[in-house]
This record gives sequence, C-alpha cells and structure tokens, in this order.
Amino acid sequence: APPANPPVDKLGFTAVAKSTADAVSVPAGYTAAVIYALGDPLTAGTPAYANDGSDTDFDQRAGDHHDGMEYFGLNAAGTARDANGSERGLLAMNHEALSDNYLHVNGSSARPRPASESDKEIPAHGVSVVEVRKTGGSWAYVQDSAYNRRVTPLTPVELSGAVRGNALAKTLYSTAGTGARGTINNCGTGYTPWGTLLTGEENFEGYFTRSAGDDAARGDKSVTALNRYKRKQGAASRHGWETSGADDKYQRWDISKIGASADGSDDYRNELNTFGYIVEIDPYDKAATIKKRTTLGRFAHESAAFGKAVAGKPLAVYMGDDSRGEYIYKFVSATNWDAADAEPSNRIAAGDKYLDSGKLYVAKFNDDGSGDWIELSFDNLDVKNYAGYAFADAGDVAIHSRLAGDAVGATAMDRPEWCAVHPTTGEIYYTLTNNSVRKLEPAAPAVGASPDSIQRALDAANPRSYKDSYGGAPEGSAGNINGHIIRMKEDGGEPAATGFTWDVYLFGAQSDADTSKINLSSLTADQDFSSPDGLWFSRSTGLCWIQTDDGAYTDVSNCMMLLGVPGTVGDGVKTTLSYTLADTSTLSIDTYVGKKPTADTLKRFLVGPKDCELTGCTETPDGKTVFANIQHPGETISAATIGNPAGYVSHWPGNAGYQATVGNTTSRPRSATLAITKDDGGRVGA
Ligand code: FEO
Ligand code: CA
Ligand code: CA
Ligand code: CA
Repeated sequence: APPANPPVDKLGFTAVAKSTADAVSVPAGYTAAVIYALGDPLTAGTPAYANDGSDTDFDQRAGDHHDGMEYFGLNAAGTARDANGSERGLLAMNHEALSDNYLHVNGSSARPRPASESDKEIPAHGVSVVEVRKTGGSWAYVQDSAYNRRVTPLTPVELSGAVRGNALAKTLYSTAGTGARGTINNCGTGYTPWGTLLTGEENFEGYFTRSAGDDAARGDKSVTALNRYKRKQGAASRHGWETSGADDKYQRWDISKIGASADGSDDYRNELNTFGYIVEIDPYDKAATIKKRTTLGRFAHESAAFGKAVAGKPLAVYMGDDSRGEYIYKFVSATNWDAADAEPSNRIAAGDKYLDSGKLYVAKFNDDGSGDWIELSFDNLDVKNYAGYAFADAGDVAIHSRLAGDAVGATAMDRPEWCAVHPTTGEIYYTLTNNSVRKLEPAAPAVGASPDSIQRALDAANPRSYKDSYGGAPEGSAGNINGHIIRMKEDGGEPAATGFTWDVYLFGAQSDADTSKINLSSLTADQDFSSPDGLWFSRSTGLCWIQTDDGAYTDVSNCMMLLGVPGTVGDGVKTTLSYTLADTSTLSIDTYVGKKPTADTLKRFLVGPKDCELTGCTETPDGKTVFANIQHPGETISAATIGNPAGYVSHWPGNAGYQATVGNTTSRPRSATLAITKDDGGRVGA
C-alpha cells in the first residue's frame, strides 16, 4: 500500500500574483482564516481587545509581532498530547518585537518612558501557548483553555548546560548564575523529537543600554565581548524601559549599572549574558521549568532545526546567527537518540538528556563545494589561544560563540535566518536573507566598526554583489540585496559528520533581472522573491515553505510565501560569475547553482498585507492545515499619525473582518495567525 502521506512532487495549485493590496491572497480553492491576533485574550476573564491603545494585561493576551511557531497535537478530549492530533492542538508562538505606537492611545511617549507604557510593552514580548480547535471545518482559538499561557521577559527561567553557574552569568537576579528572568526578541523556533518548543532569542542586545564611560568602568575583557555583540558603550536601548523607574524590572535594562561586587552578583553588568540562547518550553505543562539550553551557543538565534532522529546516533541541531557576516552552527548531542524518548514521561528531562551536553560546531564553506564543521570548544587550541579574546572556560566559549567562531576562521555569511531539515533526505537548508555590505571590493573596516558593518569579499557560498538594476548604482556596490537559500549534505549522512557538501537551492531575484549574474535560478514572475527568511518543511508533503521579509522588493509586491519541491545537493551546475573591478580587471567567482525550478516545482502561494513580513509556519500532522503568521502589518507609523487612521499603511486584519467589519478602514493593524486550508479538504500544496 502507498504511504498515507506520500511526498508531493508537483505543486497542485495556481500561482498567486504579486500584490501590493492590503490583503492576504492565496490560490483559488484555498482559504486563509485569521484565528489569533495581537491582544486576543487568553483567559475567560480578560476583556476583549479594544485595539485603541487602551488595552492592558498583555501577560494575559496574545503578544505582538507573531513570529516562529510550532503546532503540538492534543487528543480529541484535550486531556493529553497526541502527536498526530490534527483537529485540536496547541500553537506555541513567538512574539518577537513591537509596533509600539499602536499599543498606546496616542502612540509611544518620549523618554523617560511612562511606567504604564513599559508595563504593556515588556509583557507583549515573549511566547504564547494557545489552544486551537477545528470545529465544523473552521479553526478558532480557545479563549478559556487551561493550556493558554504567556511567557514574557519577566518569567523565571533556568540557565541549563555549559553556562549554568558561570562567573559571567552571575547577576543581581541570580547571584549563583543559574537563573535568568524571561526571554526576549524570540524569532525562530524548533520542534524537538520529544515534543517541546525551542525558541531562539535574536536581537536581544538592542533592549539594553550601555552608557558612555562603561568601557572604563568595566576595564576588562567584557568590553571586547560587548563590542562583538553589538553593544558599544553609548548604545541606547530600543524602548528606554530603564527610564521607567527605580524598580529592578526597569533598571535591569541598563547594563552599565555596576555595583561594588567583584563579580556582578550585585549589579546588571552580566544581564546581557543571560540572553541570546535557545530556550526550551514544554507547551503541555505550565508547571515545567523553562530552560535556556546554553550549550547550543549564544548569538542572534533564529530557528533550531533537528536533523533526522536516528536511534543509536546523536542528534544534530542546526542554527543560524542572523546578522550581516555571521555564522552557521551545528550542535551534536553527547547522548545517542533513544526512540522511546519520543514520548517521555518528563519532556524537560529529555531536553536535559540531549541538549545540555554535546559539541558546538561552526561552518566553514570551501570554494570547491565542500565544507567543514569546526568544533568550538575550550579544548580547541585555536579557541583557547585566540589572541582576540582570552576565553576562561567552556562556559565563556558558549557565551561568546561569535568570538570562538572568529578564532577558528568560520565563514561569514549573508545573514543566516531560518534553517530547516528536509524530512526524508536530511539535507539542511538555510535562508541567507541579504547582506548590504557584501562587496565586490570591500573597504577596510574602520577602527571600532560595528561587526555588522564590516564589508566582506565575495566567496563561492556568498557569491553575489551587484548593482541594483533599478537603482543604477555601480556594480558591486549594492551588496546581496535579494538573498539566497543554501543547502548542505552531511558527509555519509551522519549527524556528527565534520564535513559536508553544499550548493545553492535558490537565488532570490526579480524575474526581469539578468540571469547570468543576478537571477541565477531563472525565476519567473510566478516564482520571484527577495529576502528569504522563514523556512520550513512540511513533514506531511515534504514541500518547502519559503517566507520573505524584504526591504528591496516591497515596491513591487508585499512579502510572500512560496512553496517549493526541493531537489538535492549537487543536482545543479557549477557556475562562474564574472565581475568587472574598478581597475577594469575581471573577478571570477565559481558557485554552485541548484537545479532551476520549473512551474511545477516552485510557485508563489500567498501574498500578505501591506508592510508585513511573513514569518512562522507550521502544520497539523495530517498536512491539511498550515498555520502562518503575518508580522507587523502597517508597521510604518509615527506617534503623530495615531489619531489619523487615514494615515495608516494597513488596517489588516480588521479590514478582512477580524473583530471588525469587512472593509474597515479605521482599525489599527495587528500581527495575526492564519489557518490555511484547502476547500476540498486535501493537503495544503498537493
Ligand atoms: Fe527576527 Fe532574523 O528575523
Ligand atoms: Ca526572521
Ligand atoms: Ca528578516
Ligand atoms: Ca526594488
């Protein structure tokens, strides 16, 4: 008999056209329903969301900026986990950041920030767990579900793994360096083989301020580390919460508050070191301890994608660091996978077993299409003897993964966003969203330059920098403006391999761009995209979802989702790109372009409303419902415009009839979750 869920090798829908309408469009025969938006109440007693800036209690409501999410099945009665439950389940979802002006009646106030505003903004970040149910063919969230909960920047969590108890993790909150308060800027997600959520802390540093003079006050190697993590002295915090009062919950955001202790146990100097991790949450159990899995390294985390779990072999977890010129990482567990742990009696204990001990590797991409995983350990002499930073111990290496990656010569990539693992081939895909400072002829960095401003030369894995053909800039000056999707195959298919091969699955480009240098994947108007970001494979169909977050293409289309039938590493051709340098000589770069897509293997599936990005994608195990998030529709807003709805860029999802009348042109836009189904009840994309 054929498998119940045969992989799909030909897309079964008509491509959606590019659009700048303030609406969600999906193919004919599909429905995208809004089921869960910013502010939606998560308890029976929480008032409905007024959406006029007067709402409070965000620790009992959906947070803002819906991002990565995973679906966790429940049985029909809702009493227990059912990994195959497709009509009732939990969505565990990141709330990455804020469109803060919309959260207040008259927009955001200037500094000092009123405590009443900070008290809304802080808990609007973090994670929500919300029950969703399909009734009569339609999905809705369950307001009074006992599973519903919020995890915010104030929720107690534990540091687990390499950093636990480290001297650099001691804070006023946890003088032993074993705990941390909450999680922030949660971007990508992961789904563990034992049924928990992994959530990545991305641009965590931006919430903290470090005053002028802090370098001298510290006078130690932490200055080097803070500069590497983009927190130079004088940096302002994103929202100014530290100006809201004397309470510790505000003061903690100022890491230049240094006390009399020698080690940080009476001050905030190390507060930043307790963020930047992969965090594990058991969505089924509110009482379970939340743990930061620090052995997986500290950087601007996106997703955490498991390689295929094979009994008797270690587990591999793939991760990226989303900043210009940062690295790709892999964690390999010290413990081999036991299939009995797919349904453990204690899910967080399973996390302890597989995620606290293991090796962290960083990727080096070679120009010949091969690559190396280099171990970042205190035992690696290149790390231990690194002239740029004196690591003290294994915890210091885990806290400062970027510096360890520098020490071993890892390859600087064009902003690694999400990664995902193909469910049958086990090949690993990474979106490299774009890199404005990838240059044909890079300038030397200025002294003290921010790490993300350092211009990098082209290489085989990051081979494009071209003039914006619509802007007329000189060749090589615009950087990699459209991004690409690279993929890797482990040597021997082994999770613990230290070598791999790679090629580029797709190069983002406008369809009318030059196919010899820019539109290398020969994308058509039904396929063209820019700045791939969210990336996710359906376990049911094997199809690859690509979500975009674009700054360079929104003049042509709002951000979008595409579906692809992926091939395999090595199915394409070696291609030489020729660039003309300023002195008129030629620079040739060889790269590896995967098999070009056809009309059957790559199509645009969805276009979002104005000013949004698409991020977060998951499905029911039967493949018949795909959930996707619309993040920050209409985010371009100033406080001055708040009183004038005609000035809003977007009114979605109110204008689509969500808690408002269809066609509404006055409601404030809201990040929201879509439930996407096929009208004939079939699998999405098939
Ligand atoms: Fe939150 Fe790198 O996207
Ligand atoms: Ca992202
Ligand atoms: Ca992005
Ligand atoms: Ca453009």
